[in-house]
Amino acid sequence: MHRKVSELKASSLYHLLIQAIIPRPIAWVLTSNGHALNLAPFSFFMGVSGEPPLLALSIGQKKDGSPKDTLANIQSHKFFILHIPSRGMEEAVTKTADALPHGISETEHAGLEVVPLGDFPLPRLRDARIALGCELHRADVLMEGMDTTMVYGIVKEIYIEDSISEEIHGRIKIDAEKLDPLFRLGGDDFGFLGGIKTVKRNR
Ligand SMILES: Cc1cc2nc3c(=O)[nH]c(=O)nc-3n(C[C@H](O)[C@H](O)[C@H](O)COP(=O)(O)O)c2cc1C
Repeated sequence: MHRKVSELKASSLYHLLIQAIIPRPIAWVLTSNGHALNLAPFSFFMGVSGEPPLLALSIGQKKDGSPKDTLANIQSHKFFILHIPSRGMEEAVTKTADALPHGISETEHAGLEVVPLGDFPLPRLRDARIALGCELHRADVLMEGMDTTMVYGIVKEIYIEDSISEEIHGRIKIDAEKLDPLFRLGGDDFGFLGGIKTVKRNR
């Protein structure tokens, strides 16, 4: 099969790309509008650089063309916490993508508890094994006519559950199998870690 993008409808192209670009990590992003906490998953998400510790999220618009709450909250309050969800959280992750009436918190809707992350201005999800406290670096619409905003965040605080990490010779090692991260596949599918193989690099 071979298709020119110009021959595909936008919806078909989207469906094709989300099945081809897999597995995608999931950023489970907690923000605040100043009154209520907001939580939503984003799988067009990537690490950008280690120094500075920058990451990027691609946030589309709501069906009515208005900005998603996550974007509006990050733009007005500058901070967000990005969690890495683990196996078993797929139902809760999906629930937090529901469009809720204004003023109803997704953390309550999905029955999730939050706890403080040191003195960071937002709390983290209690049960997520990794939480990255981030500050907005910049938000860009990269192309005219694009309904997507790229949000770049600088990681300021890192929480890793003790049970999945240990310090070896001054470096923190995260056990990937214990983290057991969820991945996004095409459509409504999730994937899980299937196997790990170490291949040593020549350095
Ligand atoms: C697993 C998963 C991944 C998603 N990835 C994205 C994404 O990368 N970009 C996006 O704009 N929406 C994505 N969505 C949809 C948003 O989560 C959804 O629009 C959500 O309601 C946005 O919430 P908000 O308005 O509170 O920000 C995803 C949904 C799911 C379930």
